[in-house]
Amino acid sequence: MTLRAVELFSGIGGFAAAVAGCDVRVTAALDQDPEALESYRLNFPEHPIRRVDLERVTAWELTSLDAELWWLSPPCQPYCERGARRDLDDHRTRSLIHLMDLLERIPPEKRPRHLALENVAGFVTSRARGRLIPLLGCLGYHLRERLLCPTELGVPSRRPRYYLAASLSPLAPERATPCIPLRPLAGYLDPALIETAPTELLLPEESVVRFGSGLPILDPADLSAVTTCFTSGYGRSLVNAGSYLRCGSRVRRFAPEEIIRLLHFPETFRFPEGMSLRRRWGLAGNSLSVVAVRELLSAFPELTVTS
Ligand SMILES: C[S@@+](CC[C@H](N)C(=O)[O-])C[C@H]1O[C@@H](n2cnc3c(N)ncnc32)[C@H](O)[C@@H]1O
Repeated sequence: MTLRAVELFSGIGGFAAAVAGCDVRVTAALDQDPEALESYRLNFPEHPIRRVDLERVTAWELTSLDAELWWLSPPCQPYCERGARRDLDDHRTRSLIHLMDLLERIPPEKRPRHLALENVAGFVTSRARGRLIPLLGCLGYHLRERLLCPTELGVPSRRPRYYLAASLSPLAPERATPCIPLRPLAGYLDPALIETAPTELLLPEESVVRFGSGLPILDPADLSAVTTCFTSGYGRSLVNAGSYLRCGSRVRRFAPEEIIRLLHFPETFRFPEGMSLRRRWGLAGNSLSVVAVRELLSAFPELTVTS
């Protein structure tokens, strides 16, 4: 039976990519960022998109989407270890709080049977989670929480994230994460960028001299190379935003399309023509690990998820 899902905070469609090939129909993808939605539409044209401020969405708007599963990827900045961690006091938490309030007010028969959420690891100790978990418990949801990093699934890229699966029906028995050997980083890189790269990807030589020893610079041929987590600030900030690569005698940034590949989006994924490099980095850095989401979704017995 086809499961109807709504993708809240859809971005460029990490959830859509994770359920591709599963018996899931995305009845709507909601986000407030027009460029993210443009990218989403290009890659998942069969999924209806809506530009919506989720701080203001109404219960009627949500329930009329008739979804059995709500997927949520709310903004992570309020809980990021490197940020101010203002949590519930950060204005970017308001949309999640609003959705929690709506969930409580929606009549029980209209509530989604399943709900899943992804966020940064810092969410675990947040006050936002401290409100969400008891609320879902009171509403009768069975819950499973876990931290998972794509490296545990053989992907040479660190992106530890908090995942929550909630269901009004019992969840599937917990299974051990399969032990998958780390794949070589080179397999994710654009072969045309191994020796030379366009200037826009190269780090200025003075930055390498000045910060080089503090930067995570990887050798593409290193079979044990693992990237640090790419953030939406990659390309804007030099440090704590992601890894770099040796490229001949220079050092380069990863192309946004290589980051997308590390997230395990399908090979067919494209950004809209003419979208700036910064915007592509921003959207890729905001997105999620498709393989990790597939692993999480295996908690829902009704979903047959292909790995
Ligand atoms: C962490 S990103 C999620 C990215 C998504 N999972 C993906 O695969 O690209 C958070 C998203 O929430 C959106 N967002 C933030 N606040 C919002 C709001 N109040 N209403 C709607 N969308 C919002 C942002 O535009 C961004 O795309």
